[in-house]
Amino acid sequence: MIDIKGNKVVLIGTGAVGSSYAFSMLNQGVCDELVLIDLNKQKSIGDVMDLNHGVLYAPTTTKVRFGKYTDCADAALVVICAGANQKPGETRLELVEKNMVIFKNIVGQVMDSGFDGIFLIATNPVDILTYATWKFSGLPKERVIGSGTILDTARFRYLLGDYFGVSPTSVHASIIGEHGDTEVAVWSSANISGIPLKDYAAHDHTENLEDKMIEIAVQVRDAAYKIIEAKGSTYYGIAMGLTRISRAILQNQDVILTVSALLEGEFGHENIYIGVPAVVNRQGVREVVEIPLSEREKELFDISVNTLKKIQEPFWI
Ligand SMILES: NC(=O)c1ccc[n+]([C@@H]2O[C@H](COP(=O)([O-])OP(=O)(O)OC[C@H]3O[C@@H](n4cnc5c(N)ncnc54)[C@H](O)[C@@H]3O)[C@@H](O)[C@H]2O)c1
Repeated sequence: MIDIKGNKVVLIGTGAVGSSYAFSMLNQGVCDELVLIDLNKQKSIGDVMDLNHGVLYAPTTTKVRFGKYTDCADAALVVICAGANQKPGETRLELVEKNMVIFKNIVGQVMDSGFDGIFLIATNPVDILTYATWKFSGLPKERVIGSGTILDTARFRYLLGDYFGVSPTSVHASIIGEHGDTEVAVWSSANISGIPLKDYAAHDHTENLEDKMIEIAVQVRDAAYKIIEAKGSTYYGIAMGLTRISRAILQNQDVILTVSALLEGEFGHENIYIGVPAVVNRQGVREVVEIPLSEREKELFDISVNTLKKIQEPFWI
């Protein structure tokens, strides 16, 4: 068990996702100190000034400053949002080569500082880069976490809540698998406060639930493409998802979130980081939660694992 002191967070990459995460962290008062690092120093320095001008109105006085890799030495959490982002029409997996090179460099510099905390990765393809971070860092698997399907699950619960007329917090459902085109909607256990969807739907929804389910799953899967088409990139949703994971870690919450975690036999797979429900606390990923899957969901999850493995394996032979 590690004993990470303090609540210092170092954010590497202050582009659209990183700066939105910084804003969200400040507004939720999650950490004591937030250090920003980016290749584009000018942008980060501007963000630091801008964010500090809002601290007066935040719930707590977070110290925000521009920093260097040596600042990672005593950080509880290093969050990486740096790298190339998805261009219109580009899949997340196509980003892999560019971002693998960037990650080798970044993770190397973080580890050289003497860092001994937890990594949280958002850069795409997130599952593959989380695995790469685990390999490059040499840290125990529980201390390297990817945002995985945290955002996809939020989109799923939002759309289901919207359809059934309840808050997303009353919807219990997960998206697992690759954060990308092969992700899997786990319908078999989806429920609204314990009531299976089909029973809840029977009350006041006359439409064919099966058709609606297909429509919602497609909307979740293609949400990023639609947002990128509309405004160039997606950042608020993932920023809030990253903040949620950061809170779970720093406040030792033991909360179950769909994050990218290393499988070591769970769901019948090993040596792969992929989106699964996991208990997250101050140690990182305490354990992967093997929710029951229908036969079809298991088949789809296997396809998702194999898709990632095919892309990932050439880098590690
Ligand atoms: N996991 C998710 O659910 C999710 C959601 C949205 C976006 N993303 C991913 O997040 C990443 C960032 O997206 P964005 O929109 O913020 O991109 P962006 O281009 O706005 O920002 C990327 C930042 O990384 C910095 N950077 C690049 N190389 C660096 C290095 N070697 N060291 C330090 N900083 C470096 C750039 O200067 C830039 O500020 C992308 O990979 C994107 O696909 C993930």
